[in-house]
Amino acid sequence: MKFYITTPIYYPNDIPHIGHAYTTIAADVLSRWNKSRGNNVFFLTGTDDHGKKIAQTAKKAGKTPKEFTDELIPKFKEAWKKLNIKYDRFIRTTDKDHEKVVSKILQLVYDKGDIYKGTYEGFYCTGCEAYYTEKDIENNRCPIHKTEVEKLKQESYFFKLSKYKKKLLDLYNKNPEFILPDSKRKEIISRVKKELRDLSISRTDFDWGIPLPFDKKHVCYVWFDALFNYYSATRTKGKEKFWPADVHLIGKDILWFHTVYWPAFLISAGIELPKTVFAHGWWTFDKEKISKSRGKVLNVDDLIEIAGVDSARYFLIRETPLGDDGDFSEKSLVNRNNNELANDLGNLLSRTLTLIEKNFNSEIPKSKSELTFDIGKIDKLMKNYELDKALAEIWKFVNKCNKYINDKKPWEVKDKEKLAKILYTLTDSLRIISILLHPFIPETSEKINKQLNIKLGTLKDCKPNLLKKTKIKKGEHLFKKI
Ligand code: MSP
Repeated sequence: MKFYITTPIYYPNDIPHIGHAYTTIAADVLSRWNKSRGNNVFFLTGTDDHGKKIAQTAKKAGKTPKEFTDELIPKFKEAWKKLNIKYDRFIRTTDKDHEKVVSKILQLVYDKGDIYKGTYEGFYCTGCEAYYTEKDIENNRCPIHKTEVEKLKQESYFFKLSKYKKKLLDLYNKNPEFILPDSKRKEIISRVKKELRDLSISRTDFDWGIPLPFDKKHVCYVWFDALFNYYSATRTKGKEKFWPADVHLIGKDILWFHTVYWPAFLISAGIELPKTVFAHGWWTFDKEKISKSRGKVLNVDDLIEIAGVDSARYFLIRETPLGDDGDFSEKSLVNRNNNELANDLGNLLSRTLTLIEKNFNSEIPKSKSELTFDIGKIDKLMKNYELDKALAEIWKFVNKCNKYINDKKPWEVKDKEKLAKILYTLTDSLRIISILLHPFIPETSEKINKQLNIKLGTLKDCKPNLLKKTKIKKGEHLFKKI
């Protein structure tokens, strides 16, 4: 089966921070899990290069938007490489193939009669790249950024969003999995029921964007352009089969764009709809809003520096359910690194391998495992996007192994056959653990396999007794305590 997963495309106006890293890591975990399940996966990430925000930031830096973004894109790619993110394509909205698709769709929607010319009068927040009405703003300030909004009055093309109200409500009702988590679905339904106005989709006061094919004085609204990245990435040869997307993983702040504008654009263009939009929560940092100006921002290098890449990946996924908000603190990351990763997992491997070195000259004898394991429960949690619970469930198995070693006390066992059975049980279980953990902490999983001297398996190998006789290569401890 195919599985197509996307992250939002990030604004390349600064280097990525923990918020961007979170969405990307969660998508990487889901992508890798699906690969292990045997699915044909397409994992897309990228950047949202157009729009007023980028044009303004570039201008301040004394560069053209293209020069400015060309310099920042490598920083995103480096950050994802450091975090061990294995995406299949990094799309930019300045990619020619994407621009062509957007242009074609604009023409199509225009020809259909869903785009008309008018005058936009209202407010705009460049930070959000979003339109606001008098009701939304307080003291002329954006409800999210708290910065002053811009008052606009200009000729603009509008998309007939209001026409799609009933179709959208039908979509939410007939496909409850279209918006996840469910609490977010309810919020969107009530907002759509209340009011749905036509949407201004073009601007004339700057030119950093895709020109409207039917009126080149106008550039396309950045969100119309950006959302179509998910579709245009599947218009290249060999990728067509991936549309519709299985899941768009996004942050809760951009749910409206993804569950109201996006399906309406697609219905208008006659394109099949994605199956799920999943909105994750927001991270605070020491209980404060992440903010650059207040020094409360953690970029990817800072995050990795605390205890390494896998500790960061593990912490972010384990600490809080995907749909909830979470608080990041160095102390809680270090605690999880020391207790769960170094003690529970690291010690389990090193104790087991030390005993094999000592008693069997590093060669694991084939025997029969005494521990059972059921992948079904974990796979179900992963299908439900309950990544934190899946990790907790994997940890139950890790600690089942720890209890087993403590109960059996292999260091006291003299009978070679009995001892072989205990150590086989433990190594065969560690083999399964390495498969389960690979999507979450790939580097650690590879280290376990290297020390066991075996190849990484896939989900279908998560059953006991598949380990053959092997000569282990005990290495360094998996995690350093901080
Ligand atoms: N360019 C748009 C997305 C277009 S998708 C067609 C955009 N970019 S962004 O760079 O501002 O943000 C991207 C993502 O980062 C969003 O999903 C947002 O929720 C996430 N985060 C930014 N700060 C965050 C936290 N503090 N915590 C968690 N995620 C956060 O929006």
